Amino acid sequence: MCGIVGFTSRSASAVGPLVSGLRRLEYRGYDSAGVALECEEGIKVFKQTGKVAELDALLKKELPEEERGKFTVGIAHTRWATHGLPTTVNAHPHIADGGSLALVHNGIVENYAALRSGLEKHGVKFVSQTDTEVLAHLVATFDQGDLLAATCEALKRVEGTYGIALISAKHPGEMIVARKGSPLVIRVGEKDIVVASDVSAIVAYTRQVIYLKDGDVARITPDGVDIHSLDFSPVSREVQEVDWDIGAIEKGGYEHFMLKEIFEQPEALENCLRGRLLPEEGTAKLSGLRLGPREIAALSNVVLTACGTSYYAGLHGAYAFEQFAGIPARIEQAAEFRYRNPIVAPDTALVSLSQSGETADTLAAVREAKRKGALVLSVCNAVGSTIAREAGRGVYLHAGPEIGVASTKAFLCQVAALEMMALLFGRTRRLSGAEGAAIVRALASLPDLVRAVLAKNDAIARIAEKHAGARDAFYIGRGYQYPAALEGALKLKEISYLHAEGYHAAELKHGPIALLDEKVPVVALAPRGPDRDKTLGNIQECRARNAPVVAIVTEGDADARAFTEDLVEVPPCPDFVAAVPVVVAEQLFAYHVARLRGEPIDKPRNLAKSVTVE
Ligand code: AGP
Repeated sequence: MCGIVGFTSRSASAVGPLVSGLRRLEYRGYDSAGVALECEEGIKVFKQTGKVAELDALLKKELPEEERGKFTVGIAHTRWATHGLPTTVNAHPHIADGGSLALVHNGIVENYAALRSGLEKHGVKFVSQTDTEVLAHLVATFDQGDLLAATCEALKRVEGTYGIALISAKHPGEMIVARKGSPLVIRVGEKDIVVASDVSAIVAYTRQVIYLKDGDVARITPDGVDIHSLDFSPVSREVQEVDWDIGAIEKGGYEHFMLKEIFEQPEALENCLRGRLLPEEGTAKLSGLRLGPREIAALSNVVLTACGTSYYAGLHGAYAFEQFAGIPARIEQAAEFRYRNPIVAPDTALVSLSQSGETADTLAAVREAKRKGALVLSVCNAVGSTIAREAGRGVYLHAGPEIGVASTKAFLCQVAALEMMALLFGRTRRLSGAEGAAIVRALASLPDLVRAVLAKNDAIARIAEKHAGARDAFYIGRGYQYPAALEGALKLKEISYLHAEGYHAAELKHGPIALLDEKVPVVALAPRGPDRDKTLGNIQECRARNAPVVAIVTEGDADARAFTEDLVEVPPCPDFVAAVPVVVAEQLFAYHVARLRGEPIDKPRNLAKSVTVE
């Protein structure tokens, strides 16, 4: 949601590291930003609506280079508004105690209204509409000389989620950080200590980090980190290694992170598959699941849960579990699952999917399933993320960091990981070695299938040019192409702001077809497979309403050419993997439409890379 950075040092200026840290976290939220800097004279706060670049410009104007050295402690924030419009007043940091205390927050204080009126009764004056300002005043209220103790007292009264960092002129050189529900990582250097919402703001310094857990509160000074629980008992946390470096979060010559990540997909898939496919045995090895054949055989059903793009990968996964393993499988919207009192039992495998591993609704679904005794597994990309740690067993995607808000390589790797899980379950429950080996061959061919589509980037860009002016668009598919249609529509929506809907191709006749005319392009997914002929029939229905069609078909499949000249051909492959090259074609189509419409592709309006609030 939002991005937080904290920096403390004996000698180095905090300004540079805070601003570069915010730039690395900007994909988490980018409607306003701010810093609070501590020096002998007290706390100086700078806030600005808009991107981090605008805050940096303000700092350049207001804080000349020669003055910056005196600020060796500071906190910073880039915002995704939840309470209060993106204005300078509502931007973080929020101050209290006459400006001597400053605080930044990622998350939502659910009982902020009650806390606020309680504080107002004690004469506290509020200036913003945010939930966060309450936290600053609450800590100040409890400050009897120990900032850590004051923070613990304040947080005991807070309902909701938070990742916070705060400084106070009354406690020079000290920074207090705490987390519940929102991520925080710490890097302890020889000369300085950096805190951030995720490792991308820290990996420029080191790959050794400490992940704080829910309920942790830490006092940070240039001499070190002192972690406690909310009831003040000391806590120790281990240092962990980050498995990628700074290069992974640079654009590498591409115009956008999204395009770079689309072109990284063959390597991302190779990393995801590496050491996990066993051609001889016709199965997959996923040691992170820590599941033996007996446990797999004892399962009665699989429930997948996720949000957004991860949900569509989960829908694909449910099909694969049923096809490969013959086990009943369904996908659940995480936000529904957490409140719906779902039926899960100890012999249910609950598979949670999350690129970031921090999505609040998916995390809550994991906790609900654990409460109900299900076997909880995670499929995450972010190593050490909360969902991965709380599930305790799972599969990491190894797709590398995904900076573009629109998920691309994580989706492909989620599909590959779920198919490997379904293969493993299938080989345990019903598949022969030969059947398993055929699936292994298909999965191993994924990187090359993707390369073949990437080579058609220019042709896809030309097709995108023809439709970039459209107001609405439909995506249709059947079988494994149905989740692919939903994903394609989401990609186009979130980066080009063109209204797009994904439908099961058979659903059109039940209503949506009423919207079709020559101004509504239909992207039809019809690679060779059991559903191709039916989908060609649906293409004809669309053409009969003069709707332009972009058809994604298997190389050499000329039939579709009768209905449209806008063909994207993907290499022949089994239908259970065909969605992968098809989705790459959809990603490129969406990318070029958004590029032609001049939209901010990496940071689309109103979106954030990781949704850590409900
Ligand atoms: C996808 O492009 C979006 N960024 C969004 O739908 C995303 O998939 C969703 O928020 C889930 O995120 P997660 O995989 O990190 O849990």
